[in-house]
Amino acid sequence: MAEDYESYVDTLRVLTTVGEVTPENFTHLLQHWHSNQHIYRPHVIADENGKVVATGMLLVERKLIHECGSVGHIEDIAVSADQQGKNLGRYMIEQLTQLANDLKCYKVILDCSESNCGFYEKCGYSNAGCEMTKRF
Ligand code: ACO
Repeated sequence: MAEDYESYVDTLRVLTTVGEVTPENFTHLLQHWHSNQHIYRPHVIADENGKVVATGMLLVERKLIHECGSVGHIEDIAVSADQQGKNLGRYMIEQLTQLANDLKCYKVILDCSESNCGFYEKCGYSNAGCEMTKRF
């Protein structure tokens, strides 16, 4: 996946600020994710040329509650601007949701803006409260 550096980073720019990430930073991060696969499950969708056009991450949190159950967290969903509206976002969410189920998570959750609630509802999710944050 190291060769995906540019398109991976570009795709994420539709979501938020990525900032300066060198190819070395990218490679180290991929190694970290890879050596902690029980927690980090990054996913991408590539076009016919192998360029990343959609990203998503499932994080698996092992808890004490629910008999040491696991919760899936969906993060960093982004579809390139020129590929939006082609069901790639929906496909990404379906895949990550299925993976959370396969990994025996008792639920899967995510935070999103009001403007994206409709998208997640179409993916079968329902509003379960509010998001709180404290930024550093
Ligand atoms: N509000 C309501 N409905 C929506 C929205 C929206 N913002 N976006 C898509 N939909 C609908 C589509 O119309 C479609 O409906 P249909 O079944 O009636 O045809 C359905 O949801 C599926 O749409 P997709 O084509 O799969 O959506 P897309 O591939 O464009 O991906 C996404 C949606 C991920 C929100 C994309 O627009 C994007 O990357 N936006 C910028 C980054 C972003 O906001 N990411 C989500 C952050 S939240 C997180 O990461 C947990």
